[in-house]
Amino acid sequence: MDSPDCHDLATLAIHIGCAPDPVTGDVVPPIHVASTYVQDRPGQLRDGYEYGRCANPTTNAFAGAIAALEGARNGFAFPSGMSAEDTLIRLLARPGDQVVHSTDVYGGTHKLLSVIKPAEGIASESVDLTDVDVAACAIRRARPQIVWVETPSNPFLTVTDIAAIAELTHEVGGLLVVDNTFATPVLQRPLDLGADAVVHSTTKYVAGHSDVVGGAFVLRDDLTLPAHVTPFFDEADAAAEAVKLQMTLGHVPSPRDTYLAHRGLKTLALRVERHCENAQRVAEYLAEHPKVTSVHYPGLASDPGHGIARRQNPRGVGGVLSFQVATEEAAIRLSTRTRLFTLAASLGAPESLIEHPAIMTHSTRAGGVGGVPGTLLRLAVGLEDAGDLIADLEQALAQI
Ligand SMILES: Cc1ncc(COP(=O)(O)O)c(C=O)c1O
Repeated sequence: MDSPDCHDLATLAIHIGCAPDPVTGDVVPPIHVASTYVQDRPGQLRDGYEYGRCANPTTNAFAGAIAALEGARNGFAFPSGMSAEDTLIRLLARPGDQVVHSTDVYGGTHKLLSVIKPAEGIASESVDLTDVDVAACAIRRARPQIVWVETPSNPFLTVTDIAAIAELTHEVGGLLVVDNTFATPVLQRPLDLGADAVVHSTTKYVAGHSDVVGGAFVLRDDLTLPAHVTPFFDEADAAAEAVKLQMTLGHVPSPRDTYLAHRGLKTLALRVERHCENAQRVAEYLAEHPKVTSVHYPGLASDPGHGIARRQNPRGVGGVLSFQVATEEAAIRLSTRTRLFTLAASLGAPESLIEHPAIMTHSTRAGGVGGVPGTLLRLAVGLEDAGDLIADLEQALAQI
């Protein structure tokens, strides 16, 4: 993969994997749709391409680009964030292993880790990893093979100290996976802080326009499989094993989608900067509103994650925030009264969205101690004018 000579991530994001085509001069990479490739003699491939499930140039360009933005060589693109998560765990863990994960994680991740993986013999434990003392006790006791951190988390925007958790994880011989969907590499590069793998729902900020479902994971350079993990394909090198695992499972995205996700990278830094500015203004507005009982956004000085976020995410904490009102009925009513904020799941696009996590994205974690309350609403603050967004919330709050 070409690696342009540039120092800033915004520049890299525009140029990585996008060198003009040497024959046609295309300044953006074409969408390669072929499902199979000519061989000059049996087994003699051109540039390694054989069959669409094994490799695709459009997808490879995107996977290499997201790896470069995360500061690594090896990236893998998937048809969804969930398929990236599932494949990553299949790569790194075996029956009998244990995953310790953040208490606050996306509802689908929670289901995968707490129900599906245990049924496949991989146990899991939910731990408040935002508290380093609690994390240290749990990790030293459980000695997990994988520690799974989501930071900032969905939907409470909690912040976990990646470097501290990486140190604890490595002390017991485990691997640290960080879900970087909310921060994106613009705000946070987990591999630089000691993580071993980074996972993304590229559906969100990376693709960035509510028109792609996709995922990715990136591996730390030279990552080898843990000693107890017998490779399926005789590859001790995790990236080489991942290539064959993905090919065999067939978890490959459409090249049309990876083209769009790659295009999204070009404006990622610019978009994320504006998402952060808008979310900060909306959070500050909500924090002062008498009908709002709490706001969860680490950009607020009063937020428990503010201190770590200032150090870990100095460029901003992203475009998602959540807040609570007095009753579930009021939250549901509010979610149907906004005009600019569309009532829909997801995040990371130009258009602002509002959602009710306990009923929508986090129904698997609704209610109970440590669960997602019905009084909570999540905002994915988009790229509109912040004043217009605040006026929209003002009129909606007046109706509850
Ligand atoms: C933090 C996080 N990780 C992973 C996922 C799963 O991604 P996808 O919906 O692309 O499968 C989501 C989805 O909302 C998410 O918010």
